[in-house]
Amino acid sequence: MHIIRTVKEMHAFSSSMLGTGKKLVLVPTMGFLHEGHLSLMRIGKEHGDVLVVSIFVNPAQFGPGEDFEQYPRDFERDMKLVASVGGDCIFAPDAHEMYPDGYQTTITVDRITRHLCGITRPHHFEGVTTVVAKLFNCTKPHAAVFGEKDFQQLMVIKRMVLDCNYDIEIIPGPIVREPDGLAMSSRNTYLTPEQRSSALSLSRALFTVKERFDAGERDAERLIAVARDMIFSEKHTRIDYIKICAVDTLEDVAAISGDAVMALAVYVGTTRLIDNIVLTAA
Ligand code: PAJ
Repeated sequence: MHIIRTVKEMHAFSSSMLGTGKKLVLVPTMGFLHEGHLSLMRIGKEHGDVLVVSIFVNPAQFGPGEDFEQYPRDFERDMKLVASVGGDCIFAPDAHEMYPDGYQTTITVDRITRHLCGITRPHHFEGVTTVVAKLFNCTKPHAAVFGEKDFQQLMVIKRMVLDCNYDIEIIPGPIVREPDGLAMSSRNTYLTPEQRSSALSLSRALFTVKERFDAGERDAERLIAVARDMIFSEKHTRIDYIKICAVDTLEDVAAISGDAVMALAVYVGTTRLIDNIVLTAA
C-alpha cells in the first residue's frame, strides 16, 4: 500500500494509474476510521481498480470553538484498517501541504448549503467543498464514495460535481449503525456511557418516525413532534434541528408527497451528532 504525503507524489501516482487505463476510486475521510468508512471502501473496491483513501482532518471545515484540535487521530490504526479492505493508497497530506502560505481560494455551493447544518455551521460546507475539490484534483478519480450519514454533504458534493463539470461519479453508501442503532461516527468516542445511552434516542426517534410514515402519516410537523419528544425527554440532549425536507433541494416540506428525508442534529453533552432517515413511500 502506498502512503502519499505530498500533492506532487499524488499527482504522479494517479497519472501513472490512469495511464495504464485503471479506474481509480476515492474515499475521502478525516480518519479515525470505523466500519462506516470501511463500508464505503468496500463499495469503492467494487466500482474500480485502484482504491485511494484520503485521510485529512480539514481545518477549513471546523468553525471557531469546534473540535478541530480534539478530533481523534490514529494514523497507525487507520493504515491497518485501509490495508484490511484492500486499499491501494492513502493520501494523507498535512495542513500546510493543502493550504500553503498565500492560499486564498474557496469553492462555494449556494442555496443547498444554507439549510440544515448550514444554519448553525455557516462556513462548514465551504470548507468541505473546497477540500473535496482539491482532493478530486489531487487524486483524479473516476468515482468517489460518500456516506448517506452526512446526507447534506452528499447532496452538496453532487451539486458541486454537476455545477463544476467534474467527470466523477458520486456513489452513495448507506448509513452503518452499531447493533443498537447508533449511527457510527468518529465523534462517538467523545460520549460518556450515560451520554451514549441518551444518544440512542436519535436513531430510535428516526425509526419511530419511519414506522409512522409507513403507516400513512404524511404531516411533517406531526412527525417532527414525535422525534422531538423522544429526544427531548432524554438527559444531556439539546436539539440543534429536526427537519423534514425534500431530498434534492433540502427545502422544508409541510406534507410529504415525493421523497423526503428527516435530518437531525442534536448535542449530547457537548458532542454534536447528526443522523437521518429517508422517507420514501413504498
Ligand atoms: P468523515 O466524517 O471522516 O467521513 C468520511 C466519509 O464517511 C463521509 O462520506 C461520511 O458520510 C462517511 N461516513 C461517516 N460515518 C458513516 C456511517 N456511519 N455510515 C456510512 N458512512 C459514514 O465527511 C467527512 O469526513 C469530511 O467532511 C470529508 C468529506 C472527508 C471532507 O473533509
